[in-house]
Amino acid sequence: MKIVVAYSGGLDTSVLLLWLKAKYNAEIIAYCADVGQGDELDGLEAKALSTGASKCYIGDLKEDFAANYIFPMIQAGAIYEGRYLLGTSIARPCITHDMIKIALAEGADAIAHGATGKGNDQVRFELSAAALAPNVKCIAPWRDAEFRKEFPGRAEMIAYAEANNIPIKASMKKPYSMDRNLLHISFEAGAMEDPWYDATTPADTDMYVLSVSPEDAPDKAEYIEILFEKGNAIGLRHENLDAILTELGDVKSTGTQDGYALLSPYGVMRVLNLLGGRNGIGRVDIVENRFVGMKSRGIYETPGGTILLAAHRDLETLVVDRESMHIRDSLIPKYAQLVYNGFWFAPERVAIQALVTETQKTVTGEVRLKLYKGNVMQAGRRSPYSMYSEAVATMEGGQEEAYNQDDATGFIALNALRLKATARQGL
Ligand code: ARG
Ligand code: SIN
Repeated sequence: MKIVVAYSGGLDTSVLLLWLKAKYNAEIIAYCADVGQGDELDGLEAKALSTGASKCYIGDLKEDFAANYIFPMIQAGAIYEGRYLLGTSIARPCITHDMIKIALAEGADAIAHGATGKGNDQVRFELSAAALAPNVKCIAPWRDAEFRKEFPGRAEMIAYAEANNIPIKASMKKPYSMDRNLLHISFEAGAMEDPWYDATTPADTDMYVLSVSPEDAPDKAEYIEILFEKGNAIGLRHENLDAILTELGDVKSTGTQDGYALLSPYGVMRVLNLLGGRNGIGRVDIVENRFVGMKSRGIYETPGGTILLAAHRDLETLVVDRESMHIRDSLIPKYAQLVYNGFWFAPERVAIQALVTETQKTVTGEVRLKLYKGNVMQAGRRSPYSMYSEAVATMEGGQEEAYNQDDATGFIALNALRLKATARQGL
């Protein structure tokens, strides 16, 4: 038997790896995805091999994640239950896609993950796998009573690791659960399990990773301009962009266009994360509905995603036809639910995406935003495809060819007809 295991090098997945190897008498291949979580991945392979894996793959999915998952989701305007930007939800199909590719290439019988039996992640992982490789089995040790009995707590895991010479860094475990990637970081459990617990106080500032509190953000607003092409952000303009790129280190502009520095999707996300983070943008505290039925309290930091979503919608207001936009908007809750529940590779998500793509043909142009103490303020938009007509909209007189006010009389009269009939029913 051959199993590909989702592996991070931490205590949990190291124990998982070794335990699976023993229980199934299997060859274990470790797999780690880089979706921009910012972890140091040097040395991971050596660690996996010394823990008992026969091989270790590290998938650099940063560009793939940004271009093929985050950007299409932004085009759809996705937001779950009105507030959650789906940072963890959207990373799961991306990771599973790459892991399945390796499992198939390796001729593995199964893939295994370390998600618990109580959450959404197990569902996303396994539904993605089912859609991509129906013959590959999924193993979830946390749903195995034997595993749970052996490891009721962290102490047992540490003891198991030590007994098996697994190299574990004695790191202090945070008193809450985190999941970080290019789009966001999530915080759950610990003190946050009390929905009344206020995590915006100075005592909690240490928890946040990607952003400052709005209170601590600069008193001076900063501008960012975003260049879009067919619904995708392709360039940025900012007075200190060179300094920002130097600070980030791993992002390079690929050229310029109309005064914008052209950037890859990953590059755009990195810059927007930095700008959003330093201006206290994108923090959310929500009690959300998990697919498995329970309510769960989560806190998120989505600095760049929050800016991008706002910018994208702002450009759409200028260039997308009203009815197309309203139909797309009516599908946002459905689309977000599909992403949240793990149906990224399902035919209905793909079908909605095709509709979304059709609405994005004209979403080309520029958006100017002002970032200030947790706020993303609209400060202008323009596009060669603008449907806005000053001649039509103007409050000034003398534009009768563009819009004849007499036409409105009949328009209102016919729309009023059925309302009058309803009123006359007298109920
Ligand atoms: N509640 C969020 C979601 O379902 C975040 C999940 C975080 N996952 C984790 N393994 N810490 O998308
Ligand atoms: C987990 O239970 O593994 C994390 C939380 C979630 O998946 O919703």
